This record gives sequence, structure tokens and C-alpha cells, in this order.
Amino acid sequence: MPLLDGRVCIVTGASGEIGSVVVEELVREGAIVCAGARREDKLRELAARLSSDKIRVKRLDVSSPSSVDDFFNMVLGEFGRVDCLVNVAGYPMDRDLWFKHLHEVSEEEVLAVMQVDFMGSLRCAVRAIPIMVKQHGGVVINISSTPAITGQSHGAAYTFAKAALISLTKHITQEYAKYGVRAYTLALGNIKTKPTTSVLSEEEFKAAAAEAPANRWGEPREVASVISFLCSDKASFINGQTIIIDGGAVMR
Ligand SMILES: NC(=O)c1ccc[n+]([C@@H]2O[C@H](COP(=O)([O-])OP(=O)(O)OC[C@H]3O[C@@H](n4cnc5c(N)ncnc54)[C@H](OP(=O)(O)O)[C@@H]3O)[C@@H](O)[C@H]2O)c1
Repeated sequence: MPLLDGRVCIVTGASGEIGSVVVEELVREGAIVCAGARREDKLRELAARLSSDKIRVKRLDVSSPSSVDDFFNMVLGEFGRVDCLVNVAGYPMDRDLWFKHLHEVSEEEVLAVMQVDFMGSLRCAVRAIPIMVKQHGGVVINISSTPAITGQSHGAAYTFAKAALISLTKHITQEYAKYGVRAYTLALGNIKTKPTTSVLSEEEFKAAAAEAPANRWGEPREVASVISFLCSDKASFINGQTIIIDGGAVMR
């Protein structure tokens, strides 16, 4: 039997490179996947490519409370449950913002990133959790990044938002594990996606690969396979952890 037979999973940021591979993996593992992002054309392309009756797509802007409500209403109206929430949506890569010194980053810039990466994940989590508590079971996965653990000398707004996700995960576990809810943070290293690699010079691309003892970039499928495992009963006694997927660059 597939790992996630009949589980209802929500994936945000599903139009993106990692998000779409996560959708594909969850569908392959038998889940019903409700996929959201702002670019509906990309979502429709994904649904057409997978050509499965197990996928629903709908526009979702995680920075808008009403859009998140509409999305959850669609999921609940059709399926009446939410077994897994995978918060992949992330603020678009902006090289100028990325390389600003901390003292040059404006409050508005920090809040703009927070609004998507942290608040967007929180918004979806607080809608999913009461449903999961009622079902006595559910999994929330937040996509973070290794600088959230180590800090780094640039990308300040991004690091702050990704670090806040670690505490969101831990809070969910502390408060809701007794109701059967599990939560995880995935701290990703360098995962080869166009939005990330296209802003790098060839030298920067090689230097990023060399950060990991594996001396390479990771692939989106290497993130997706961890997600399907964590969503499944095979991970039933793991809770609240930050799982680092980075080829061994950061070891704890
Ligand atoms: N690639 C890496 O090396 C790496 C490393 C660490 C962490 N991550 C994290 O992994 C996630 C996916 O990254 P990726 O590399 O696959 O980049 P990507 O292709 O740009 O994916 C980002 C996704 O977020 C969505 N998004 C942005 N703003 C949104 C909003 N307001 N509401 C809903 N969706 C929104 C985008 O879709 P729309 O534009 O259609 O809304 C897109 O689907 C992000 O959270 C990123 O921070 C990536």
C-alpha cells in the first residue's frame, strides 16, 4: 500500500520548484493533494502533467488571511479533513535584499519576508491545527533553511523569518502533541532550483556546493522524500525536530 494512501495534504508554494516536486511525491504515495500558490497557470500545468484525480489546485496567497480562508474552505468543503500541511511558500529570492548589510535592511523589508515565510506558515498552521486536533492526528511541516540554525553574514530578513519557523514547530509539538499532532522543521541547505541558482555567478554556484562535504547541491526530490516519510506513520514517534537536509554542511 502506498505510504500516504488517502491522506489529505495541503502544499503551499506548490507552483515552485521544490513545492511541485513535493506535490508529485505525495500524489505518488497515494495522498490527495490540495496545491496552492499565487500563479494559477503553474498550478494548472502541474495538475495537467500529473494527470491524477488526486490533485486539486487553487490560488493561494499566504500573505492574505482571506485567501488562506478561501483555500481551507475549499479543502474542508471537498474532503472534510486535513492530514498534512506542508508550508513551502517562501518570499521570492531578491539578490539586492539578500546582499544588503543588516543595518541597511528596512523594517518594511523584514516585514515583507516575515509576512510570507513566517506569518504565511503560521496562518495556515492555525487553520489546520483545530481540524487535526478534532481528527486526533495531523502533521505540519515548515520549510526553513540552515542559516536559521547557524546565522549567516547576509540574507538577514530571510534568516529571521526562517528561524521563527523553528519556534513555531516546537510550539506546535509542545502544545498539540497530546492531541496527535506532529510538527517538523526542515532546514534546507543548497537545493538546486532556478530561483536560487539563477542569481549566482558560476563561482558562487561552485562555492555553495563546496559548503557541503557531499560537495554538491541537493535536488528537490531529496527534500520531497523526507516529507513523505515525515507525513507517514513511519515517523510517528518523531516530533518537533529540525531536520537538516544539506549534504552534511551543518552537523548537530
Ligand atoms: N532552493 C534552496 O536552496 C532553498 C534553501 C532553503 C530554503 N528554501 C525554501 O524552500 C522553499 C521553496 O523554494 P524554491 O527554491 O522551490 O523556490 P521557488 O520555486 O521560488 O518557490 C517559492 C514558492 O513560494 C510561492 N510563494 C511566494 N510568495 C507566496 C505567497 N504570498 N503566497 C503563496 N505562495 C507564495 C511561490 O509561488 P507563487 O509565486 O506562484 O505564489 C513559489 O511556489 C522556500 O520556502 C525557500 O525559502 C529553498
